[in-house]
Amino acid sequence: MSNDQKPTTFVIFGASGDLTRRKLIPALFNSYCKERLPAHFNIVGFARRPWDDDQFRQILQEGMQKLAPETYIAEKWEPFSQKISYARGDLPTQADYLALKNHLEAIEQGAGNRLYYMATAPRFFVPIVENLGAADMVEQSAGWRRVVVEKPFGHDLASAKALNHQIQAVFEEEQIYRIDHYLGKETAQNILYFRFANTIFEPVWNRNYVDNVQIMVTESVDVGHRAGYYDQAGVVRDMFQNHLMQLLSLVAIEPPASFKAVAVRNEKAKLFHAIRPLPLHQTVRAQYDGYLQAEGVAQGSQVPTYAAMELYIDNWRWQGVPFYLRSGKALAAKNTEIVIEFKQPPHLMFDDIEDEDFTSNILSLCIQPDEGIHLKLEAKVPDSHKTQPVDMEFHYRSSFKGNRLPDAYERLLLDAVRGDASLFTRADGIEAAWALMDPVIHGWENDDDAPPMATYRPGSWGPAEADALLARSGRIWRHACSHPEP
Ligand code: BG6
Repeated sequence: MSNDQKPTTFVIFGASGDLTRRKLIPALFNSYCKERLPAHFNIVGFARRPWDDDQFRQILQEGMQKLAPETYIAEKWEPFSQKISYARGDLPTQADYLALKNHLEAIEQGAGNRLYYMATAPRFFVPIVENLGAADMVEQSAGWRRVVVEKPFGHDLASAKALNHQIQAVFEEEQIYRIDHYLGKETAQNILYFRFANTIFEPVWNRNYVDNVQIMVTESVDVGHRAGYYDQAGVVRDMFQNHLMQLLSLVAIEPPASFKAVAVRNEKAKLFHAIRPLPLHQTVRAQYDGYLQAEGVAQGSQVPTYAAMELYIDNWRWQGVPFYLRSGKALAAKNTEIVIEFKQPPHLMFDDIEDEDFTSNILSLCIQPDEGIHLKLEAKVPDSHKTQPVDMEFHYRSSFKGNRLPDAYERLLLDAVRGDASLFTRADGIEAAWALMDPVIHGWENDDDAPPMATYRPGSWGPAEADALLARSGRIWRHACSHPEP
């Protein structure tokens, strides 16, 4: 029997947690409704709570109804839920893995593929992997074995390296799928299609035409009930090292020869290595007013909830083009957007237009929530000699009416089952991203010349210092995607 014909089991470690109810089960259920899961599949939850199969199913069903009601289909849930079972166990306890193994073998009845999903706190990643190894649950003679590792992947470069090392001591790199859910977002994937499925953009996608690139990932939510985690992490670990660096890679990589995992990930690795180490004076860190009073935040915490950075890529394509990155909590709106600001025309021949009246062409790739693309052009104002920027827009919601944008986890889980790792990060990519961000975090904490912690008003677009970062070279932050103004 080929692996494709074997049953596939999704084994979720930490199945009683939020991620399972909120993301994994809705993603699997939607794929089931679209008939995209393998013909024979099972879902096994592994956690400590004293539940039986029915209780587990009921909790997941309630989660679906409450958290993803728009995709809940009662008559489909019934047969889907029959595929779900629960194995009680303690993540660090080796003996419990033998029970799990028996449970899985009973379901598989011979041969089967397994996707182990670590939906747990990071401190359990290594114990889970080691226990799987010790229980002989990793070797692939009866079917493939893959492991999905959630974020955060390490706390710094050293711990990320150690984690890679410990996981690779048990699993081959090809079996390891490190998830970054931003890569599963439909609109993030579209960046590569936009660049490489069209001919007209790539010729201008370089230092000859691009003045600067801006990547913003703003969030309106504050740290809320996650302060305990967040105050250990901060915005650079939480958002920059992973999501922003991945978005940056999609905008800036060289064209891969194919859309295969090896080709795409090789280009990303090359790009990360070409990024110049970031001097601290090209960074801004800030906390929103009120962060220090939030429950779970340490007294006098120096953890930033906002950061902005100016970085450079030392290669032929991008030499001298600044990339501005910013992200933070408690800002005016949730918005993920990539702006390519083009250079001004070399010569302005229109007498009535002053340089400062002129807006360069701006291309905005809107990742969320206004999924689409905007291109700002200068147009002649009728009955005058002036120009004015106008907007060419593409919106998913109007161009693809009726196509609901799938959640990132839907695509990523299916890719992991198919063995396609192109949207997952490789060990070297993770480490290269840490190598860039680690000195910034470390410098902020230890260097005398680190920029002081700025503050910003919740509901604003961030600190004045971030505007000043661009103003030094006469630039401003741009955004064109729709979202409520502050
Ligand atoms: C997570 C971060 O990885 O991404 C959160 O830990 C953040 O702090 C979230 O809120 C943002 O994801 P999304 O998909 O809502 O933009």
